[in-house]
Amino acid sequence: LYKPVGELRSPICCILGHVDTGKTTLLDKIRNTNVQEGEAGGITQQIGATFFPAKKLKEELIKTQQFYPVDCNVPGLLIIDTPGHESFSNLRTRGSSLCDLAILVIDLMHGLENQTLESLELLKMRKTPFIIALNKIDRCVEWKNKKNASSYHQLQNQTKNCKMDYESKRQQVITQLAEKGFNVAFFWENEDPKTYISVVPTSGVTGEGIPDLLSVIVKYTSVFMKNKIKVKEQFNCTVLEKKVTEGHGTTIDCLLVDGQIKKDDKIILAGFQGPIITKVRALLTPHPMKEMRVKGEYIHHDVIYASMGLKISAVGLEEAMAGSQMYLANTQDDIDKATDLINNEMEEVKKYIKLQNQGVGVAASTLGSLEALLQYLNSQEIPVSYVSVGPVSKDDVMKALKNVLLEDVNRRKKEYACMLVFDVKILPDAQKFAEENQIKIFEANIIYHLFTKFTDFIKQVKE
Ligand code: GTP
Ligand code: MG
Ligand code: NA
Repeated sequence: LYKPVGELRSPICCILGHVDTGKTTLLDKIRNTNVQEGEAGGITQQIGATFFPAKKLKEELIKTQQFYPVDCNVPGLLIIDTPGHESFSNLRTRGSSLCDLAILVIDLMHGLENQTLESLELLKMRKTPFIIALNKIDRCVEWKNKKNASSYHQLQNQTKNCKMDYESKRQQVITQLAEKGFNVAFFWENEDPKTYISVVPTSGVTGEGIPDLLSVIVKYTSVFMKNKIKVKEQFNCTVLEKKVTEGHGTTIDCLLVDGQIKKDDKIILAGFQGPIITKVRALLTPHPMKEMRVKGEYIHHDVIYASMGLKISAVGLEEAMAGSQMYLANTQDDIDKATDLINNEMEEVKKYIKLQNQGVGVAASTLGSLEALLQYLNSQEIPVSYVSVGPVSKDDVMKALKNVLLEDVNRRKKEYACMLVFDVKILPDAQKFAEENQIKIFEANIIYHLFTKFTDFIKQVKE
């Protein structure tokens, strides 16, 4: 799919920012989709990926040509969406560490917020280049919109009142950024993007500023980061997520940064019980301009070239860890080298998950949300005895609570006789088994609802 013809691969961008600043809505506008409207609680709770082919980029780049000419010499653009909710700092870290360039979205009406500051820290620490989308410009007084137009042009077409409102709000944000030591400049007057962070005014609702945003991304990556995004043979692929995909069993979502991968390739990746060696059964991607995390039709491929977000189905992925590198394992030499690298890396990733003999059971739809749940339980000093990703079976409940089940119902610690279930089905026999054995199951598809339900229960037990 999209074999690069020139010397550059598609740049990888990660979109970061405080909750509800409009990250997913902006992507929806570029994709012409409604992913945001389908999200539980209107918040993003998974890492996502969307591929935009060069053809689409060119259509947008034309709109800024007069004042900001950019050649589209990349085969496409891959954008990683991340959640802004505070629970998911693991996914913001994962996304931002994998990208070439980050887009930090700031709500013009709210300025810098908690996760804006957290994201700025992350970017600074990892020296990740980034640009700022100053979003929700349509909320300025008397805003007159023109769908999907350049925001540079649109800002000039507003009333005096509107311009004054915009000027004062954007000045507040710029001052806040300066106070944190970040110097910014509007992209059309930024002569030195390595010193000044480029700011692009946008609206996710009207699509104004989308041409500007894409132009800045393409220019920044293909001009200033040319060496970083040159096509390389060396295989470089990271596991973003693990989840159960209907019709494919346990699958991993991956980000292929460099190189290529073929169906039937042998791969090796980190697993909770040690390195997993398996064979690619199916290589899948969503259609271009469709979000990978949304259930839909997947295209099967024989080979995929970097960079691309893809889903791999293979035997034995149940124990796979997210956030770690995946390697090709077609020769014994490959396997030996990769095993060493993976063993080193595993210690790092494993520290999230410390299972105890006695504790609650936890199940989630993705490994990323499972990590977020574990971080929360850890902060509340609640031990965990069992974890799983995917629908909850009777077997899961039995394994999770085997030590609790051995005890007399009246003597056991009530706070351990629980399962926390996030965003997955509980199979009927699991539900029945839990009821018969007085195991409480807490269930929610919005992560902070699950926190509240469980915290309330713990309070009750302690009283
Ligand atoms: P999380 O993923 O949960 O962190 O949120 P997000 O940053 O992806 O924001 P989201 O796309 O969910 O948008 C949050 C709300 O803001 C929705 O109600 C959007 O319709 C609204 N919104 C997003 N962008 C704009 C914008 O440019 N203008 C206006 N007026 N509203 C916007
Ligand atoms: Mg979102
Ligand atoms: Na949201």
